[in-house]
Amino acid sequence: MKDSRQNLTPFFTKLKEYGMSRVAPFDVPGHKLGRIENDMQKFVGKKMYLLDANSPVGLDHLNYPTGVINEAQTLMAEAMNADKSYFLTNGTTTGLLAMVMSVCKANDKLILPRNVHKSVINGLILSGAMPVFVKPNIDENLGIANDVSFSAVKKTIDENLDAKAIFIINPTYFGVVSDLQQITDYAHQNNMVVMVDEAHGAQFYFSQKLPLSAMEAGADITATSMHKTAGSLTQSSVILTKGNRIDHQRLRATLNMLQSTSPSSLLMASLDVARKTMYFKGKAKLNNILQLSKIARTQLKKIPGITVIDKDYLLEHDCFDADETKLMIKVSDLGLTGFDIYQQMKKEYNIQLELAESHIVLCVLTIGTTKQDLERLVLAFRKLSEKYFKQRDKLPKIEFHYQFPDTYARPRDAYHAPKNLVKLDDAVDEISAESIMIYPPGIPIIIPGEVITENVVRDIKFYKAKGGSLQSDIENDTEIDYVQIVDKENWIKYEGDL
Ligand SMILES: Cc1ncc(COP(=O)(O)O)c(C=O)c1O
Repeated sequence: MKDSRQNLTPFFTKLKEYGMSRVAPFDVPGHKLGRIENDMQKFVGKKMYLLDANSPVGLDHLNYPTGVINEAQTLMAEAMNADKSYFLTNGTTTGLLAMVMSVCKANDKLILPRNVHKSVINGLILSGAMPVFVKPNIDENLGIANDVSFSAVKKTIDENLDAKAIFIINPTYFGVVSDLQQITDYAHQNNMVVMVDEAHGAQFYFSQKLPLSAMEAGADITATSMHKTAGSLTQSSVILTKGNRIDHQRLRATLNMLQSTSPSSLLMASLDVARKTMYFKGKAKLNNILQLSKIARTQLKKIPGITVIDKDYLLEHDCFDADETKLMIKVSDLGLTGFDIYQQMKKEYNIQLELAESHIVLCVLTIGTTKQDLERLVLAFRKLSEKYFKQRDKLPKIEFHYQFPDTYARPRDAYHAPKNLVKLDDAVDEISAESIMIYPPGIPIIIPGEVITENVVRDIKFYKAKGGSLQSDIENDTEIDYVQIVDKENWIKYEGDL
C-alpha cells in the first residue's frame, strides 16, 4: 500500500510559495529572484530564478534542518527504506567524503575494493584511514573491473578483524553488484560498519526487478546519486542511513565541514519532487524501460561486430548480479575502441553515450529514456557496423589488460610527502604522490602511495593515445606526460604505515 504522505513535497511547495509571494528581497542571492536580466534568464525564464533562494525565513537550513528540509528528508528516508536521509548539493562525491571521514578516524582500517571512485580515495587522504584493498573480479575480455566476491571479502575480513568498516560499490559504473546481503551480514557479525557507494543505484529503491538496495541489505550508510538515475538535477544526491552504528552528530558535523553554507534550493527542491515521482511512478516506469531495453538488446545482438554484455554474460563471468538499466556494449570486435565509438556516436549521429572504455561503451537507461532514442541508438550501431565490420581485420587488434598496482604507503602519507615531478617514463618503480584516472568512470589507474609499474605507464599512454579523457592532480586531459612522485630521500615515512 502506498503512503499518501508521499504526495507531499514540503520543501518544493514552500519554496514555490516564497518565490511567488512578492517578497522584497534584501538578502542574497544577488539576482533577487530574477529581477535582473541576462542571457540565461532570457532562455529559461524568470521562474527558475524564483526557485533559487538562500535560506530565507520559513525555508529551513540544510546545515541544521528543523523545518521543511527536515520534513522532505524524512519523506525521502521513508520512501527509500532508510531510517534517516541527508540531502547533498555537491553530489555523491561529498557524500562519500563525509561517509569515510565520519566513520573512520586516522589509522582506522577500511576494507574496500580497489576500483572505487576517486572521492573514496580522497576520503582516505582526508581521514587518514588505512586502506585494505580487496581485488575486484576483472573481466579481461572487456578490460573492466567488476564486483568483489564474498569469499574474497570474507578472507580480507578474517585477516583484518580490527578493521573499522567495509566499503562496497552497489552497483559499479557498469552495473555489476556484489553479494551485498551476505557481505553486510558477515561484516556486522564482525562489528564492522558497512558503507556503500550507490552513485549509480538510486533506481534500486523503486523496483523489485533490480538488484538489492543498500538499505534493503541492511547496510549502515550509503550515498546515492538521485541525479544520475532518479530524475533530480545534477549534483543532487542523498545519504541514507539505517540502524545505530552511525554517529549522526559526527556525520552532520562532517557534512557541514564539506558542504556549502549556501546549498542550492533548486537542487533540494529537485530531490523533493524526484522522490515523489519515483515513489508513485518509478516501479511502472522502470518496468517499461526494462521492457524497452530487452527489445533493444535483442536488436543489437543481431548486429555483426557488436556484443551486448547482458546479465547472462555477467553471471556466467562470476558476477553476483547486474542492473539491467545499464546497457553495456562491446565494440572492439569492430576494430575500434570504445573511445572511437563514443566520439563517432556524437559526431555522426548526435547520440551522447555515458562512457567509453577500451573495449566497451556504456549507455545509462532511466525513467527518462524514450523508445525513439533507443531506436536511434540501434540504428546508429547498425550503421557503424556496416561501415567497420568488413574492414575489422585490417585494423590493429585492441590489447588491454586491467591490473592494479601494489600499495606501498597510505594515500594520506604519500599525499603529504615531499614530491618530485618526473616524466612518466622515468617514474617506473617510484611511489605515486597523486591520482591519475580517466574520467568517466573516475576510477584511478594509480593513487597516492602506490608503486608506479611499467604497466601503469603503459596504461596511461594507451588511454592518452586512444583519446580517453585523462585527469591527474596536476594536468588535464591529453597532456599527461609528467607525474608527481614521492621524494623518498627527504621523506619521513609514517611509522605505523603499511
Ligand atoms: C562509482 C561512483 N561513485 C561516486 C561518484 C560521484 O558521484 P557524483 O557525481 O554524484 O558526485 C561517481 C560519479 O560518476 C561514480 O561513478
